[in-house]
Amino acid sequence: MEKINIWIDCDPGIDDAVALAMAAASRDRLHILGISTVAGNQTSDRVTGNALKLASFLGMDDVPVVRGARGPLVREVEPAGDIHGATGLGNCELPATTKQTASESGIFYMYSRIMELPEEEKVTLVPTGPLTNIALLLRTFPQVQARIEKIVLMGGSSSGGNVTPAAEFNIWADPEAAQMVFAAGLPTVMCGLDVTLKSGLNNGQIEELCRSRRKVEQACGQMLAFYLDTTRHEGEENMVAIHDAVTILYLTNPELFSGRNVSVSVDCSWGEERGRTICTADGQEQKVYLLDQVNLPEFQWVLLAKLRSLS
Ligand code: BDR
Ligand code: CA
Repeated sequence: MEKINIWIDCDPGIDDAVALAMAAASRDRLHILGISTVAGNQTSDRVTGNALKLASFLGMDDVPVVRGARGPLVREVEPAGDIHGATGLGNCELPATTKQTASESGIFYMYSRIMELPEEEKVTLVPTGPLTNIALLLRTFPQVQARIEKIVLMGGSSSGGNVTPAAEFNIWADPEAAQMVFAAGLPTVMCGLDVTLKSGLNNGQIEELCRSRRKVEQACGQMLAFYLDTTRHEGEENMVAIHDAVTILYLTNPELFSGRNVSVSVDCSWGEERGRTICTADGQEQKVYLLDQVNLPEFQWVLLAKLRSLS
């Protein structure tokens, strides 16, 4: 089977960390061109440090990590320390790494790597944070669009939000960027709260990870126990939603999910509706496939098996 070229744009972030683990465990199926960081769950310095440590910890020292935007297009950064902790990874202390970010920065590096692909190949962008880097990439280098197969993003919701009644965190953190990305009209898979709040692990499964002697399982267990505590108000009582992991598992195991076609626009007003993703099935050409269903037992089985495969 041909590998899928992917670029991961993230703000680790506990569930971003699990998404990176899913990618590390799927390298037989995914060719990871690189990882870029975006300020979101924590500051650019913290999420970039976390991405470097995670890449080493997960056996991806060969994958370039590049620092992207230091903050959203218009508003200021408002890290989610209450959800992901002061470091961005809960209580988990990952080993230090000597890995450095690529020398060229952000979208310039991304653009070069994508354009270097053989002419017949394309890339799938996998953003799991605010869409700042993706918007900047599309605006700065419009010619890159022809090399993008699709965007599989975590963000948005067709109903309510998790950071305000209207908005999901990644979209709320940079609504202008999100609007630019949806307006570009590229084929997009939206892994929003409709599906991600149903995609997670329960208390017992997390406790089992914590008891594991394998270092990746243990670290993920520790992070997820923290995340379960800070997100108890969202979704199911004893289950932690692992939002960002849905993107990678959709690519490797699309049969786990189903959804519907919609058009999406983002509310960029400065009122209470700011950051809402307005999803309509209006008969126009709909480029967004919005996931809304998951086979939970299978999702959990695949996720746990992938974690177990990383020692
Ligand atoms: C999204 O917000 C972040 O806090 C998570 O990492 C995830 O990407 C969920 O709303
Ligand atoms: Ca994230």
